Amino acid sequence: MEKEDLTSAVAVVTGSSSGIGLETSLLLARNGIHTYATVHNIDGAFELFDILKKDKNKLPLEVLALDVTDQNSVRTTIDRIVNESGRIDILVNNAGYGLIGALEDIPMNEARAHFDTNLFGAIRVIQNVLPIMRKQKKGTILNISSMGGRIAFPLSSTYSGTKFALEGLSESLSYEVEQFGIKVILIEPGVVRTNFGKSMKKIEKTTKANSPYAKLLEIREATRKERLQTSSISQEEVAKVILQAITSPEPEARYVVGEDAKRLLESKNSMTDSEFKKLMMKSFFKD
Ligand SMILES: NC(=O)c1ccc[n+]([C@@H]2O[C@H](COP(=O)([O-])OP(=O)(O)OC[C@H]3O[C@@H](n4cnc5c(N)ncnc54)[C@H](OP(=O)(O)O)[C@@H]3O)[C@@H](O)[C@H]2O)c1
Repeated sequence: MEKEDLTSAVAVVTGSSSGIGLETSLLLARNGIHTYATVHNIDGAFELFDILKKDKNKLPLEVLALDVTDQNSVRTTIDRIVNESGRIDILVNNAGYGLIGALEDIPMNEARAHFDTNLFGAIRVIQNVLPIMRKQKKGTILNISSMGGRIAFPLSSTYSGTKFALEGLSESLSYEVEQFGIKVILIEPGVVRTNFGKSMKKIEKTTKANSPYAKLLEIREATRKERLQTSSISQEEVAKVILQAITSPEPEARYVVGEDAKRLLESKNSMTDSEFKKLMMKSFFKD
């Protein structure tokens, strides 16, 4: 999309109450894009409402409720946006959460709920947005994946399951919709300083002192804490890359965000699977 087209464009962002979604909604609106910042619960969006109030509600931004796990909520909100604005040019599928636990311990309802938000949530929104994008013969869908969508870490099996799946889904979809002028882009951040860590679900059984995974959990948590302190990036940096992808005339299929993520992916790409596994095992099972 050319920079001069931004002021006539309409964007929808999911999970805008905090973190990457909040920052992306604000950055798009500050660049003149009419932005629908959709949130899980309107009552939980106080941070966004506070910022809007400080800006004297001058931004072209509207806050609407959209729970990605609820088909009715997705349909009603997307229908309302299409009725109001007549178009959707940009969709940012951002809503998602992390879950930490050994696969052996994850109750099926938790595994299903994780996929329902991180993967099926994106599918629901895409399915509701595609008809209008096809009609326009134009659109950009950005799926917020993760470095964890290319490299799996221990105790994150369902998270990587959802993000690896989102990667495959995005690649396949990009072939289907290219003919309608619709682009599909993956954003792959490393560790980002957001509420993500705080909202991460922890599987109780794995956190027990007598769990066979207790030692691994300790190392996994220490590794994340260290990366948060030494190599994490801000939500603003991710939002800037999203805007760059939207405004690029020839966007890449994937944008890796953060030096740490870039380095790890380069290592993975330069090694055989077994060499990379040895490297990972060494960092998680030091002795
Ligand atoms: N932070 C990182 O290190 C990192 C790295 C790579 C990728 N990511 C990805 O970036 C995305 C955003 O995460 P973040 O880091 O910005 O964390 P965050 O601050 O926790 O934001 C997650 C957002 O998703 C929303 N959400 C959760 N369930 C939802 C649902 N059913 N319907 C609608 N919205 C829902 C949350 O709303 P509520 O709080 O109201 O539920 C929140 O607004 C996620 O997809 C995550 O996997 C994050």
